Amino acid sequence: MTTNPLAFIPAQRGRASVDFMIHLARGSQPLRGEVAREQAEMVPDPSVLPEDLDLRDRHLGQSCAASPAFRASQLLGEFHARMHGLVAREAFEEVREDLEPVIARYQEQGPTTLEPAPEGAETPAYFEGVHFHRTAGGWEEHEMQGYIHGEIVHRKLVEALYPGGIFQQRRAVAAMAPRRAYERILDMGASTGHFTQALQETYPEAEITGVDLSLRVLEHAQRIGNAQGYAWKLYQRPAEDTGFAEASFDLVASYILLHEIPADVIRRVFAEAYRVLEPGGDMIMSDVTRYADMDKLAVWRADSGARLGGEPYWRESASLDLAEVAREAGFVDVTAQGIYPHVVIGRKPG
Ligand SMILES: C[S@@+](CC[C@H](N)C(=O)[O-])C[C@H]1O[C@@H](n2cnc3c(N)ncnc32)[C@H](O)[C@@H]1O
Repeated sequence: MTTNPLAFIPAQRGRASVDFMIHLARGSQPLRGEVAREQAEMVPDPSVLPEDLDLRDRHLGQSCAASPAFRASQLLGEFHARMHGLVAREAFEEVREDLEPVIARYQEQGPTTLEPAPEGAETPAYFEGVHFHRTAGGWEEHEMQGYIHGEIVHRKLVEALYPGGIFQQRRAVAAMAPRRAYERILDMGASTGHFTQALQETYPEAEITGVDLSLRVLEHAQRIGNAQGYAWKLYQRPAEDTGFAEASFDLVASYILLHEIPADVIRRVFAEAYRVLEPGGDMIMSDVTRYADMDKLAVWRADSGARLGGEPYWRESASLDLAEVAREAGFVDVTAQGIYPHVVIGRKPG
């Protein structure tokens, strides 16, 4: 593993509040277990639950409302969803003065480049003003949102809470691409560059391009690329309309982009991946657990959790059969594997 000169070193208050959020989430695991046991007893056969998800939600919401464990768990979930971004921001502000020179140095030094969207470019309606993950003000409101999301929310909070580690997971997905080496890779929804880095470490010789709709997160990807000496080319562009020439890449990849976009845009993303791949090129897209792989009770839990967590397109995305979407886009030798992340691999016929 490489060292990270951009790593967040909190002051005392920030450390305490970030730790509090981590321990609150860890400490509420037994409560969530209790809720799951109660629900399993209440619904011994999930297949009888209503097919329609809104109806299922009303039905189960009402049935669970009497449970103190359920209500407490919902309250803690709401608190975490609402507070985690604010806690991270406050922790950043506390040490802003120390961090600003480091952030500026790695923003400017190269060799990674970042091209913002051209003046007047329209932001897609499904993205504009949406507060994904209940990020106060959305991705673009805070000028340091990339740093806050990448270094504090992701590296400190989410990494501490995720079994197996979120970076190890990205490296595992990168290594699932069929070939041992690639020359030109496109990372769709590159965000703060965490999967981009996993791709680069797995395919050290590859020239890597990343696209994302958010400039703020790409700025942090640029800092990470620079800090590691990588010559990534980053563009603020939509994955469904990248503007790159046909046959520009031999691998197109994404890591948990797809649940953040509506189903019709997902289809366009696969079509765009196909277009920009050279004949014989590979596609590897990974995303959240498919609803088809869960029973109806687990789907309800995932669906209500996603709503609580500020994921407006999770339901329509998780309901899609991504392997089918890949085949419809023209990919062949399509395979789908894994629960989380669910990984779809395909090849453009050569
Ligand atoms: C969960 S993050 C991706 C995580 C990232 N791949 C990583 O490994 O950390 C989803 C990203 O998709 C971006 N996004 C959403 N819609 C997009 C689109 N149509 N085209 C490109 N990026 C998009 C968001 O701005 C966000 O940064």
